[in-house]
Amino acid sequence: MLAARLEDLMKKYKRTSDIKVGVVGYGGAYNMGRVHLQEMQKAGMTPTAVTEIDPARLAAATEDFRGIETYSSLPAMLKKSAVDLVTIINAAQHPRPARASRPEGGAARGLRKADGDQDRGM
Ligand SMILES: NC(=O)c1ccc[n+]([C@@H]2O[C@H](COP(=O)([O-])OP(=O)(O)OC[C@H]3O[C@@H](n4cnc5c(N)ncnc54)[C@H](O)[C@@H]3O)[C@@H](O)[C@H]2O)c1
Repeated sequence: MLAARLEDLMKKYKRTSDIKVGVVGYGGAYNMGRVHLQEMQKAGMTPTAVTEIDPARLAAATEDFRGIETYSSLPAMLKKSAVDLVTIINAAQHPRPARASRPEGGAARGLRKADGDQDRGM
């Protein structure tokens, strides 16, 4: 599903690096937020924003990705950031932040749950 979504995005963007990516959840247990951002960066995309409810983890994200935007909620991120593709990587037992938010004018954005069960456009 992500590959299909990327194909859609590439119709809009000239280069892979034009795709601004973000994550929701930047936990330290398995560092999956960092891993996902690093993998998207390796694929050529540009890490741009992190949403995390724990301020200490937002600080960690800022150390890992200098200059990255940080937010405490997904609606705030989608309202203010130009991020194009967001991976939801908070733990399974946490509420899914995506259900509460559908940004105005967000039709070109991608939203995916990292476990692959929720890939969908917004
Ligand atoms: N499939 C795999 O191979 C694999 C491997 C490792 C981890 N995982 C899973 O990936 C998930 C994430 O791993 P992790 O190490 O980052 O876990 P973690 O528990 O350390 O981090 C989850 C983070 O999400 C944040 N969070 C919770 N609700 C939020 C919300 N509404 N908005 C923003 N942030 C929110 C928490 O503050 C926490 O920092 C876990 O469920 C883990 O089990 C899967």
